Amino acid sequence: MDILENYSLRELNSFAISANSRYFVALDEVQEIQEFLEIDQYRALPRLILGGGSNILLSGDFDGITIKVNVMGKELVSEDDDYYYVKAGAGENWHQFVLYCIDKGYSGVENLSLIPGNLGAAPMQNIGAYGVELKDVFHELEAVITESGEPITFSNNDCVFAYRNSIFKSEAKGRFIITSVTLRFSKKHVYNTSYGNLEQELEAMNAGSLSAKVISEAVCNIRNRKLPNPAEIHNAGSFFKNPIIPNEQFEQLKEQYPDMVSFKSSETDVKLAAAWLIDFCGWKGKREGDAGVHENHALVLVNYGKSNGSDILNLSFEIAESVKKKFGIDLEREVNLV
Ligand code: EPU
Repeated sequence: MDILENYSLRELNSFAISANSRYFVALDEVQEIQEFLEIDQYRALPRLILGGGSNILLSGDFDGITIKVNVMGKELVSEDDDYYYVKAGAGENWHQFVLYCIDKGYSGVENLSLIPGNLGAAPMQNIGAYGVELKDVFHELEAVITESGEPITFSNNDCVFAYRNSIFKSEAKGRFIITSVTLRFSKKHVYNTSYGNLEQELEAMNAGSLSAKVISEAVCNIRNRKLPNPAEIHNAGSFFKNPIIPNEQFEQLKEQYPDMVSFKSSETDVKLAAAWLIDFCGWKGKREGDAGVHENHALVLVNYGKSNGSDILNLSFEIAESVKKKFGIDLEREVNLV
């Protein structure tokens, strides 16, 4: 394994922030990860585990070791009367995996088409879009314990999945390196097209009968229209989570702002569209130097070229402050700050 020094992470984060890592190593095999964790010289250093780099904001140089997990491979590992079980390496690209599943006839991840990032990062924030979350198809994952190098398996319940959250993003942050993920696809899958603009898109496409392929195409159409391609305009998708507030607070806000966009979250809570709140505060399309709010989607912060992490972070603080002032609502970051 090659352990490199003073390594630029610019090409490895979708915000394209220029920042260096003191050390960097790319690891292709589980065994290699275990061997690396045994090297004393690096054991005490802060670690940054990197997947696709599509959900991080680098606030500056990283004074530790960046580990890029490149464990590859995808295969059907078993099946029973009800399910297909498909395992993929943490280094596999998520969207390519979705296309592979559609091609093989495994339905359940079509709504999650075109989400940037790798398989290993998908459970971290329980990726979700168009009415589906990873947890709906997640079976188990394999990881390595960073302290001991021992392998460990996590079931769906063990991961404590919640809206854009899991044990790996909260209590257990940094304690495990995810190496593979196994998803469970129902043989009697029911397509989920209930998310408002997905239904509209499918109608507009006039595609006839539903299939995973058609739904995936519809999702790609919507995403391509609204969300900037990170390869062209550097961004990390939604910067904030959609805030969840109690019904009573929502009723009061709704009186003042009748057009406020909301979704039922539970019997007692409502999820608000952070994009609508930010848009209402006038941020869409605003730019401060090279840091900006995308012109088609107010939840997406972008780096137009030379912004550094603090430019983006400062812009995000200003946005959160104005939303707090206008609506009394705290926005929580979705992107991981490094
Ligand atoms: N809206 C505005 N202004 C905007 C953009 C959107 O008012 O500039 C309104 C829309 O009209 C819509 C509502 O806000 O009524 C919600 O917008 P959208 O459907 O685009 O979804 P979102 O809530 O902003 C979430 C996820 C996305 C996911 C989409 C689709 C979060 C934090 N974000 O966004 O995930 O693709 O739903 O399911 O939950 C990501 O996590 O990086 C991500 C892109």
